[in-house]
Amino acid sequence: MPERDPVLRLSGVRKSFNVGRPNEAEVLHGIDLTLPRGDFAALIGPSGSGKSTLLNLIAQLDAPTAGEILLDGHATRTLDDTARTALRRRTLGFVFQFHHLIPAFTALENVLMPLMIAGGRPDAAARDRAQALLHEVGLGEHAGKRPTELSGGQQQRVAVARALVHRPLLVVADEPTGNLDTQTADTVFDLFRRVHDREGCAVLVVTHDARLAETCDRRIRLVDGFIVEDTALHHTQNQSS
Ligand SMILES: Nc1ncnc2c1ncn2[C@@H]1O[C@H](COP(=O)(O)OP(=O)(O)OP(=O)(O)O)[C@@H](O)[C@H]1O
Ligand SMILES: [Mg+2]
Repeated sequence: MPERDPVLRLSGVRKSFNVGRPNEAEVLHGIDLTLPRGDFAALIGPSGSGKSTLLNLIAQLDAPTAGEILLDGHATRTLDDTARTALRRRTLGFVFQFHHLIPAFTALENVLMPLMIAGGRPDAAARDRAQALLHEVGLGEHAGKRPTELSGGQQQRVAVARALVHRPLLVVADEPTGNLDTQTADTVFDLFRRVHDREGCAVLVVTHDARLAETCDRRIRLVDGFIVEDTALHHTQNQSS
């Protein structure tokens, strides 16, 4: 059987800001990176090293200055906006530091958002899936609540469920637990990890927390726009709190 494409492949990716101006600066200097299906990888590195810039390129929110990004085997550089948006919606899920939940919607409706954007009114199967994901992140009883009626950690768990509802191949997360206290961060990260194990998507997660990075399958360290470390982490047993 032919080998399946990796979920993500970057080759020679460079990013400069303010191109052609006196303050032009290259912040990513030729990134090569492959993420196979199922990997749960931490992206770490000092502030300003280019982590969010890299995630934004992968998320197709910004374009590289040079190099190529393949999502599910599809080269993205030459895609037009329509095709790029379709590919992004099909293959990617997002979790941000601040959840960006819609205040007027319930938790369940927020989780359903990616499906509604893709295909209009969600059917019974979609609602069942969203409800099951909420249950899995420990919020089965809170599906009808609005974001303001939930704690910060609960809101981030809704965001995790939302990122997964449309069965993306890759979830990119930029400091998803960055604004949570340590214990809540641990809980959210652990749930994220467990849902991932069952769903089998790939995850690339930026974290400043070395301890959380240690629980991932792989640690990628970015310093000054270069990948200086890419280590497979072997765990003798699954950690769960
Ligand atoms: N839109 C932009 N225009 C100009 N420079 C930018 C832009 N976005 C980011 N930069 C610069 O690129 C570099 C990398 O920024 P980036 O946000 O990717 O860092 P980071 O690793 O995510 O940092 P942090 O850990 O603080 O979130 C920084 O020097 C930043 O000032
Ligand atoms: Mg950042």
